[in-house]
Amino acid sequence: MEDLESLKTQILQNIAAAADLKSLDEVRVAAMGKKGAVTEMMKGLGALPQEQKIEAGKKLNVLKNEIEQAVANRREILENEVLNQKLATEIVDVTLPIRPEIQGRVHPVSKIYEEVVAIFGQMGFDVAEGPDIEDQFHNFNALNMPPNHPARQMQDTFYLPHDANEPFDMDKSYVIRTHTSGMQIRTMENKKPPIRIIAPGRTYRSDYDATHTPMFHQVEGLVIDKTTTMAHLKGCLYDFVKAFFELDEIPVRYRPSYFPFTEPSAEMDIGCLKTKTELKVGAGSDWLEILGCGMVHPNVLKAGGIDPDEYQGFAFGVGLDRLAMLKYGIPDLRTFFESDVRWLKNYGFAPLDFSSMTGGLSNNGGQTR
Ligand code: PHE
Repeated sequence: MEDLESLKTQILQNIAAAADLKSLDEVRVAAMGKKGAVTEMMKGLGALPQEQKIEAGKKLNVLKNEIEQAVANRREILENEVLNQKLATEIVDVTLPIRPEIQGRVHPVSKIYEEVVAIFGQMGFDVAEGPDIEDQFHNFNALNMPPNHPARQMQDTFYLPHDANEPFDMDKSYVIRTHTSGMQIRTMENKKPPIRIIAPGRTYRSDYDATHTPMFHQVEGLVIDKTTTMAHLKGCLYDFVKAFFELDEIPVRYRPSYFPFTEPSAEMDIGCLKTKTELKVGAGSDWLEILGCGMVHPNVLKAGGIDPDEYQGFAFGVGLDRLAMLKYGIPDLRTFFESDVRWLKNYGFAPLDFSSMTGGLSNNGGQTR
């Protein structure tokens, strides 16, 4: 029992010196294990006379508690050291860009397509899709453009033979659609009013310069109901351009125009500022034409199987590529279709930045430029 103090000092020193959890456990077993120094002393108590037994028993219990407490304290310190070491070696800088770098880019036209679908989707429009190869009924006749109508000549149409084995016959031939307006007819054929659709897709005209390519993209809009008016058209398109250009206010005006399939017809301009080097949308004293629109012509409703005495509606057509050029400052349309990866890397978008009305349309933060 005289050795108790020196034993205690020794054990506590060993505990404090234990450099890791394993050696700490060895120290603990050496003291308190089945054959540990303290355990052995406990066993020795039985041999002592009654009075000393009680006294020594108390002292041993106190020692035991002290040792247990010291082991627990040391364990906590060592465990923290282990954890800190782990944290220090496994450190992750979450602000770094991901590696390997994502290589693919979303083409500006695909981005605009997504944006337009997101905007009209929130207004309750469905998305309709139709064929690129169209018959003349849907592309022209049903849209109030009978054969020999002068507007048919204005469209720089690509014609396709109806049968490769027969001589070309203008009356029977197909076209690759010159606009998405044929989707007005296809929609009316398949759906009862009320109708609220947009139809985005490829369109084709024989034309080529900085703002025209033989293949380009349009989105058609069609709304038909019993009481749909020009005021609805104006409200709808005003909301669209504000959402699209991500501006709270934007000056707009409508100029009278002519399309065979709408009456009255209009073109919508938005306010902008044109300088030698820049085009800023949303303010300024200049105007920029962005789309054609109007009230659906009664002949078109009839061709689509809808009674014009009961229903009326509006339609519009927007060039998607043109929207992309305006919104993202891309000067030459021809570059859209040259498949140059350097161009795509510059003007493209990060593939995981989805467009949505709540999460952000263009995700400018995540844009690669
Ligand atoms: N189809 C017309 C064009 O290609 C656009 C348009 C669509 C105009 C619908 C009015 C209504 O220019």
